Amino acid sequence: MKEWDSFDKITNAKGIWLIDSKGNKLIDAVGSMWCNVWGHSNPQLVKSITSQSKKVQHSSMFNLTNEPAEKLADTLVKTAPGMHKVFYSDNGSSAMEIAIKISLQYWKNIGEREKTEIATLENGYHGDTFGAMSVGYVPEFFGKFKKQLFSTIQFPVPNKYRLPKKYTLSDYQNFCLEKIEKRFSKNNNIAAFVMESGAQMAGGVIIYPKGFQQKIKQLCKKYDVLFVLDEIATGFGRLGSMIEYDTQKSIPDIAAFGKMLTGGYLTMAATLTSKKIYDSFSGEFNDWKHLFHGHTYTGNPIAASVANENLKMYKENNLIKKIQKTSKVFEKYYDEISEIGIVGDIRHKGMLMGIELVADKSKKTPIHPKKSINKIFFEQGKKNGIYLRTLGNIVMLVPPLAISENQLNSLLKRTIQTIKSAESLL
Ligand SMILES: Cc1ncc(COP(=O)(O)O)c(C=O)c1O
Repeated sequence: MKEWDSFDKITNAKGIWLIDSKGNKLIDAVGSMWCNVWGHSNPQLVKSITSQSKKVQHSSMFNLTNEPAEKLADTLVKTAPGMHKVFYSDNGSSAMEIAIKISLQYWKNIGEREKTEIATLENGYHGDTFGAMSVGYVPEFFGKFKKQLFSTIQFPVPNKYRLPKKYTLSDYQNFCLEKIEKRFSKNNNIAAFVMESGAQMAGGVIIYPKGFQQKIKQLCKKYDVLFVLDEIATGFGRLGSMIEYDTQKSIPDIAAFGKMLTGGYLTMAATLTSKKIYDSFSGEFNDWKHLFHGHTYTGNPIAASVANENLKMYKENNLIKKIQKTSKVFEKYYDEISEIGIVGDIRHKGMLMGIELVADKSKKTPIHPKKSINKIFFEQGKKNGIYLRTLGNIVMLVPPLAISENQLNSLLKRTIQTIKSAESLL
């Protein structure tokens, strides 16, 4: 893109700070793409990487296994209620491709040929590969590939800030759920319902109203549709719970995790399934029930090693409790942020905040400047010592999960300064 004629080089990173080659220090308000847990250069995590790299750097998981990957799988199934087995991959999009393939093949494995459709929520996001784009269709991102994507059955999502006229949030939530039930009861050819757990992130920080996810899970159970949850961005504490679906009382058949799994240090993701799903893939050689899927770096021992250390640190430091306390700091700033002329709405849960910018507060018209909002906020953020990234007209705060209260106060003050300085440029 022409407006990005050059990029700053990050040469060092420590704690919440990113340091570029010119010596600028920026608070990492993006958590290095929503995955950083303990801040950068954490000695315990770095040590787990260096010590594992002296033993086995990588060995295939085809017919073999390795110690860190086995240990991690064991921890994951103990951490995620209802889950029984783990399938590794090296990024979130692949974890979702795997979830989709497993859910489609499950029905074939048990001899049910008709269940071939996937249901999803509008504006969901599950990654940038073709299967993930198909189930997580965000029109602005994927419109150019629409023809090549497979079709899904999409249902609306209640967004408290942008409700259709004459609806209350609760009415609209019921309307969305009734739509799902109507379709499920009409033609039960749906293999799976795929959605982000707790909130839609890239689709605009839409935090589901209470009970929404649980009711979808109940409908899936009632109509025999597999329930597939994407916790890649929202699990492991981002929304304030270790396992978001546990809080939402909605145990899925298949769940995907990524991002925070390795503390944000190495690339790894995992697709977990219940025993029912796993067992359907277990057969004799000639049954051809197994899943034909594998990546070169599946179960990489260095990534698994840092993931093990990371999960150990969650426990040792009581991280989830700490997040629940620290995240209250966001609330202190609601009023001050809302008063800014271009701020239409604030959405916050756990260590996630979305600030929606509008051209007109009463009409809620999204802001549409000539230059990209992202570029303006990047530049103004840098002047205020923060690395900020916007998604469309939403400023997103997704800091490292272990950020301290003082640091979060500082981040929020700098964000307010940045929005105010950007206001005249939009
Ligand atoms: C909810 C969700 N699912 C899947 C992905 C894709 O993960 P990755 O970027 O590791 O492929 C993302 C990435 O932002 C995400 O937010």
